[in-house]
Amino acid sequence: MHVSHAIAARRSIRTFTDRAITREDLEPLFHDANLAPNHRLTQPWRFYVLGPEGRAGYGLALGNRKAKKATDEAQADKMRKDTSDSHRAWPCMVVVAMTLNENAEIREEDYAATMMAVENLCISAVAHGLGTYIRSGAIMDDPAARAAVGVPEGERIVAVLTVGEPAEQPPEKTRRPATELTHWVD
Ligand SMILES: Cc1cc2nc3c(=O)[nH]c(=O)nc-3n(C[C@H](O)[C@H](O)[C@H](O)COP(=O)(O)O)c2cc1C
Repeated sequence: MHVSHAIAARRSIRTFTDRAITREDLEPLFHDANLAPNHRLTQPWRFYVLGPEGRAGYGLALGNRKAKKATDEAQADKMRKDTSDSHRAWPCMVVVAMTLNENAEIREEDYAATMMAVENLCISAVAHGLGTYIRSGAIMDDPAARAAVGVPEGERIVAVLTVGEPAEQPPEKTRRPATELTHWVD
């Protein structure tokens, strides 16, 4: 598939088929992610592939945060269980973390490089017949979520991806054309 076609076909995929996602499915995606540009060849990205228990644990950490807004304990329990169960049911979750260099400039470069790796992964997924959804938020720094993933100190989670065979191709979202966002400077 031409890379422009893969870029154009990429969508955030909310629903996946039941097809299991294997190590063989994922390794080419990590290979492509690992080719992302990165200054000083720090290769700051780290990929954590969560099995069902890891997904449920991450979902429970998220559910616990949601449950703080519940009006009673029964509703809180349901929020915890539903969020944990829905995460367990994903075909695959890949948590992307980055190493935290003590130098602030390198840290910023490393964040940018890691997100380039995320995009490579998402585009590669399309070329391999798969879809992705990127999630983020304060949950990524939650100690319970970090523990569920097994992220060590010195790494920060920067993106949480669901990966699977798409059960849908959502319509393209309306975007401002690039011509409006481009300045041609003499
Ligand atoms: C860094 C980053 C973080 C994101 N975090 C979330 C998120 O927490 N929740 C969510 O629903 N979508 C999240 N998204 C997905 C965007 O909402 C999505 O890419 C956007 O709506 C455009 O849709 P498309 O991906 O189908 O083109 C994130 C995307 C990026 C790049």
